[in-house]
Amino acid sequence: MDETSVAIVGCGVISEIYLKNLTGRPGIRVKACADLIPERAAARAAQFNVPKSCSVDEVMDDNSIDVVLNLTVPKAHGQVTLAAIEKGKSVYGEKPLAATREEGQAILRAAKSKGVRVGCAPDTVLGGGLQTARKFVDDGRAGFPVAATAFMASHGPESWHGDPRWFYERGSGPLFDMGPYYLTALVNVLGPVRRVTSSARKSFPERIITSREKYGTKINVEVPTHVAAVLDFRSGVICSLMTTFDVWAANLPWIELYCSEGTVEFPDPNSFSGPVRYRMARTTWWENLSVPFRNTTNMRGLGLVDMVEARRRGREHRASLEVAYHVLDVMQAIHESSEAGRHVEIQSSCERPEPMPVGAADFVVDA
Ligand SMILES: NC(=O)c1ccc[n+]([C@@H]2O[C@H](COP(=O)([O-])OP(=O)(O)OC[C@H]3O[C@@H](n4cnc5c(N)ncnc54)[C@H](O)[C@@H]3O)[C@@H](O)[C@H]2O)c1
Repeated sequence: MDETSVAIVGCGVISEIYLKNLTGRPGIRVKACADLIPERAAARAAQFNVPKSCSVDEVMDDNSIDVVLNLTVPKAHGQVTLAAIEKGKSVYGEKPLAATREEGQAILRAAKSKGVRVGCAPDTVLGGGLQTARKFVDDGRAGFPVAATAFMASHGPESWHGDPRWFYERGSGPLFDMGPYYLTALVNVLGPVRRVTSSARKSFPERIITSREKYGTKINVEVPTHVAAVLDFRSGVICSLMTTFDVWAANLPWIELYCSEGTVEFPDPNSFSGPVRYRMARTTWWENLSVPFRNTTNMRGLGLVDMVEARRRGREHRASLEVAYHVLDVMQAIHESSEAGRHVEIQSSCERPEPMPVGAADFVVDA
């Protein structure tokens, strides 16, 4: 099997699970780790026996690297992705695709002109849980979708992330950081969004870090931290979405889809597993669906494996640039709607990615 050479740029918290899942995987060779902080790159390279740690420029100039895995902070996503594309490399990156719609558009243009692949997290939508929910809906078992709710409620990452400052910068906040999980899951089932409206606020202009490394450091909040939006999908489905870093406790589902013949409860879209529950019309009980898909543990990197395999086979990859750009467009429009006090029409669209093959083993992406 021919090998695809991958270099990781950004060796922080999330790089560990990617390296765990990708090193030693047939057809993929992780050749280099890079970070603005060289010690981080060196530490990850040593931890996973990656042949070299180096600067970002060295990665970009290394013609033997096929794919850059961009795990930097959100405000750097666009710049790192564009630099890699410029060098003719394909890119798979963490969410969001970029910090702004304009950067996303630059990525669309560059990827097209260079003929390279760009894929983007979240790949949790390829996990067994969300694939099961999608199949239940696609098979028409609950009738046709009418409406949805999606809730992400927390009090922010400053109690657990080593350096949570970027979560409150442009390109992040609850909507840009966690929204991609919810929006990508919804788009995978329902297709594209037509228009949005919202109200958003910055409830606490300053936050204090309580995790160990930077304990007591103040963060100046740049972005809204409580966002309540309504999304009209092109299919007619109306979704109420709340993403917040301002709530200590809540009793809310992650995603519920209300259909003509029943309700489907999705699992946490920031996970690969179930459960998926449903309750049919005129019944009083919820039932658990059995999950006929694998990929139910922390499979981060599955989207990259799919992109590499798709390139070999000449098919579209599932964690696609088109979907990631649409999600970015929707998120920016949600903030614009709150600022302008009106609905914002969504200009972009996308196809729903192909479902995963039923019953295939972990990391197997073709039937
Ligand atoms: N932490 C999580 O649990 C988690 C989960 C899923 C997805 N993600 C996503 O993964 C990405 C990274 O998150 P993280 O928690 O690992 O962040 P982190 O702050 O722990 O690590 C980011 C790393 O990127 C490096 N970096 C920043 N700008 C760079 C640049 N221009 N060039 C090279 N390196 C650069 C930083 O030095 C740092 O080491 C984010 O987009 C986040 O949304 C994080």
